[in-house]
Amino acid sequence: VRMESLAFGGDGVARHEGRVVFVPFTAPGELVEIRILHDKKNFVRAEVVRVVEPAPGRVEPRCPVFGRCGGCQYQHLAYDTQVSAKSSQVRETLQRLGGVSPDLVAAVVPSPAPWSYRNRISVHVEQGQVGFRGLDNRSLVEVSRCHIASDAVNAKLAALRSAPGRDGTYSLREDGVNPQGFAQCNAGAAALLRECAVRAAGQGERLFEGFCGSGFFTELLASAFREIAACDSDERLIRQAPRLPGVRWHCLLAELLYHKEAAPVVFLDPPRDGLPEAMTEAILRKPPTRLVYVSCNPATLARDAKRLAQSLRVVSVTPFDLFPQTAHIECVAVLELGRG
Ligand SMILES: C[S@@+](CC[C@H](N)C(=O)[O-])C[C@H]1O[C@@H](n2cnc3c(N)ncnc32)[C@H](O)[C@@H]1O
Repeated sequence: VRMESLAFGGDGVARHEGRVVFVPFTAPGELVEIRILHDKKNFVRAEVVRVVEPAPGRVEPRCPVFGRCGGCQYQHLAYDTQVSAKSSQVRETLQRLGGVSPDLVAAVVPSPAPWSYRNRISVHVEQGQVGFRGLDNRSLVEVSRCHIASDAVNAKLAALRSAPGRDGTYSLREDGVNPQGFAQCNAGAAALLRECAVRAAGQGERLFEGFCGSGFFTELLASAFREIAACDSDERLIRQAPRLPGVRWHCLLAELLYHKEAAPVVFLDPPRDGLPEAMTEAILRKPPTRLVYVSCNPATLARDAKRLAQSLRVVSVTPFDLFPQTAHIECVAVLELGRG
């Protein structure tokens, strides 16, 4: 089959005899010989047996366990090919599931570093072997070096490999890195995303922030707004949040606090599942003039934009590549009062 595109999640897409064929670890444009793994009514899942005509965007993966380890999906693609594939995925997903015009979606902002960017990884120790979960999410794939982790993290990995200790999960991180939160994955790219999202919120009297964690965004928002009600459902994270002038921290569900603390500007950074339905309903009852929505899943962002469209319209979406070599995509969406 001739590969056409890369779907959100990382699988290559081709068409054969009227059916869609999903083939991971392929590049758009190339001709591949495949072996069918699952033959379903509407689609086929397959694996590559041989690349007959490689695409110009194909490169040699750096990691010897690429294709077996569950961590990376895109090491076989040049970095600019990864970034342009992610731009298409966000446009396509937002249009198909959210009715958002592709013209409102900016190109993906690349990570300052496509390799060695992670300042924290989690590894598993099993019977003296150290590694990541495999593609099946169960088996252990032994790793001696992780190319998306920084040198300091890899030094800790080497130390653990030389004395693995008890079975379990270990968080390996650079000195001074907090185990939770955004900045703790890719500090350079996270700083760009934070700057964009906080700038989009503008400035004013009152802001409601839901899903605030330990205040990664709040720290900057606090100098632009006089009063902020910030909440997260995780008590440990709220306890770690810094004291900031004008900020009241709540350990509460955003959908419960919003009824009392609705504000003209709302800033949200929900988990992969997106906004709980009760949260979109609460927002629709008291819509803000501006909503900044930081998302780690374009599919749930699209669904929520559609749910909110009766009061709020999307004015811009800027995707960021916080996780090069993987299929993850973060987005900053800005919505304003008015019908979508
Ligand atoms: C994507 S994280 C964002 C964390 C934070 N903004 C940061 O940058 O570190 C999502 C957060 O939402 C919290 N959470 C999940 N459901 C929630 C809810 N219904 N209300 C409030 N917080 C919630 C989680 O505890 C988690 O910290």
